[in-house]
Amino acid sequence: MSKPNNLESLWMPFTPNKTFKKDPRIIVGAKDMHFISDDNREILDGTAGLWCVNAGHGRKTIQEAVSKQLETLDYSPPFQFGHPKQFELANRLAEIFPEGMNHVFFSNSGSEAVDSALKIALAYQRARGHSSKTRLIGRERGYHGVGFGGISVGGMVKNRMYFGSLLSGVDHLRHTHNHSLNAYSHGQPEHGAELADDLERIVQLHDASTIAAVIVEPIAGSTGVLPPPKGYLQRLRDICTKHDILLIFDEVISAFGRLGKATGSDYFGITPDIICCAKGLTNATIPMGATVVQDYIYESMLENADAPIELFHGYTYSGHPVACAAALATLDIYRDEGLFDNAAKMAPLIEQAAHSLKGSKHVIDIRNLGVIAAIELEPRGNAVGARGFETMKKAWELGLMVRANGDTLAFSPPLIVNESQVDEMFTKVKQALEQVE
Ligand SMILES: Cc1ncc(COP(=O)(O)O)c(C=O)c1O
Repeated sequence: MSKPNNLESLWMPFTPNKTFKKDPRIIVGAKDMHFISDDNREILDGTAGLWCVNAGHGRKTIQEAVSKQLETLDYSPPFQFGHPKQFELANRLAEIFPEGMNHVFFSNSGSEAVDSALKIALAYQRARGHSSKTRLIGRERGYHGVGFGGISVGGMVKNRMYFGSLLSGVDHLRHTHNHSLNAYSHGQPEHGAELADDLERIVQLHDASTIAAVIVEPIAGSTGVLPPPKGYLQRLRDICTKHDILLIFDEVISAFGRLGKATGSDYFGITPDIICCAKGLTNATIPMGATVVQDYIYESMLENADAPIELFHGYTYSGHPVACAAALATLDIYRDEGLFDNAAKMAPLIEQAAHSLKGSKHVIDIRNLGVIAAIELEPRGNAVGARGFETMKKAWELGLMVRANGDTLAFSPPLIVNESQVDEMFTKVKQALEQVE
């Protein structure tokens, strides 16, 4: 396999370019649960890439669907024209998403699925005669991608601080992390349902007549894995309903089996008004995002928005035929191989294996839910994130891909993971931790 001989021209995203290029980690292949590095080592994929390769790598039926689609219809414009696969895919998603969520708007990434959701929320409020409802409420430590909408409602400081004043009219709920009360919780933490009442405080400040929507990840991922406290999401749902505020779940990581169900909404038994998804939708083979809305949102837009075009929004590649083919083949794999059930089966094993690291060097907290686990390390003095980064690098040397979000190591393997691979993941990370100062 060819090795790049000059790394200079590429500007790598969310990567320290200078240090990476001195000591690069290059991936040249992948199959099932493993990546192959350029020095020909097998690396166990403890992260499903970036929480996205849910069915494992190199799936034949997805490859075949993509190449067949390229032969028959490589592209078709999504404005004013349709092609069969985008309707078929929307119908398939409606079947597995919560009841009443039967309308799907396609985009190309999680960030775009989020921006589409925020725009739909605003346009819907206006169309139904509530045009003063323009505020968007996010949450501290939230991650909603990198568009201006997503970073405005997002709550991770580095993603926001370099980019000016962002969208106006945005406020944030408090985050739900409470280390002193909830450290080492197994699954959802006991304490913190009342943090949803922070929305009441925001309503008191701005009045519900000015608030269009609230957006949260049902389980926060990129900030270092924060499962919602027991009762929190229900309380948030109730407060949104009481004040006629739309609730958007950003399920870019939690949809497609990560919690053992098609959606996190299904897992938690809480139905939002809008769901954003991406990543596992195509098993990450072709970029694609989707924003799935309740029937009353779509119907109200068709009834009340300006005619003839109800929503002035869309992308050149909305519902791209090749992405649709990849997504349909991916959904077939999830169904035919029962991968969401396998995820549910593996969840307790992951919980047990992750929590067995309690007491290991540097570890100050362990969190888990579904096929997700996080091990939080004590930061090294003022060098926040350094220990996490070094552990990630050490794990790579030992043959494991793990993700470092600051000093939190996140695990989210493909849903095909088996028991011995779960053991291997946490054994290797323990070895890595022992070798890091
Ligand atoms: C919850 C959530 N929303 C949005 C995004 C953005 O997705 P993308 O990187 O595909 O734009 C991510 C990516 O990790 C995510 O975790």
